[in-house]
Amino acid sequence: MEIGEEIYLDNAATSWPKPECVYQAVEKFNRRIGASPGRGSHSRTVAAGQMLLQTREDLAGLFNIEDSSRIVFTGNVTIAINIGLKGLLRPGDHVVTSSMEHNAVARPLYALQEKGVEVTTVQCAPDGSLDPSQIEQAITERTRLVCLLHASNLTGTIMPIDAVGEIAHRKGVLFMVDAAQTAGVLPVDVEKQRIDILAFTGHKGLLGPRERVGYT
Ligand SMILES: Cc1ncc(COP(=O)(O)O)c(C=O)c1O
Repeated sequence: MEIGEEIYLDNAATSWPKPECVYQAVEKFNRRIGASPGRGSHSRTVAAGQMLLQTREDLAGLFNIEDSSRIVFTGNVTIAINIGLKGLLRPGDHVVTSSMEHNAVARPLYALQEKGVEVTTVQCAPDGSLDPSQIEQAITERTRLVCLLHASNLTGTIMPIDAVGEIAHRKGVLFMVDAAQTAGVLPVDVEKQRIDILAFTGHKGLLGPRERVGYT
């Protein structure tokens, strides 16, 4: 099948086709630089390092992240989420999440539950929507984290992250957001929305190639 003859409907998995400038930038990198940042000191590794730094700064500007050195590039958003959850939660900790989470959140939480982390899953309505007051009610003295996706890959439901971020902040609980479906699509501002850990990806709404990133 020729490009242009199909209607592509799988942008929730990965956006396609990418804008022409994305293909050109990848080709330019592979042809002219093709080196790993920080691996050596010749001119092409330096150029790769500068490109990485510029990417950090651009992402920090997009999400209002004060310190771009806190952006961690990972293999995909699932890895970013795993690092966030498993790096933070210890046996005896309590985490509040929703029934709409992607497996990238649900599965590490099941694994952590078996190691003694208490997980409360707030049930969403049949249309996927979430009542923020239910998150507030679920928070206890042992709650360390509220973990919520920004928009569902299944229903497209947008979660009330502004309200939940305010609740988490007021209660002194960390707030982690899975923005896999929304980075580059909806505004995300880690300061305004009180987000402590943001997991996002470059290859969906940000229209990038398949390298992906997360932020802690
Ligand atoms: C909400 C959400 N979280 C996490 C993921 C996992 O993304 P990846 O496979 O890039 O790690 C997806 C993928 O569709 C998603 O929609």
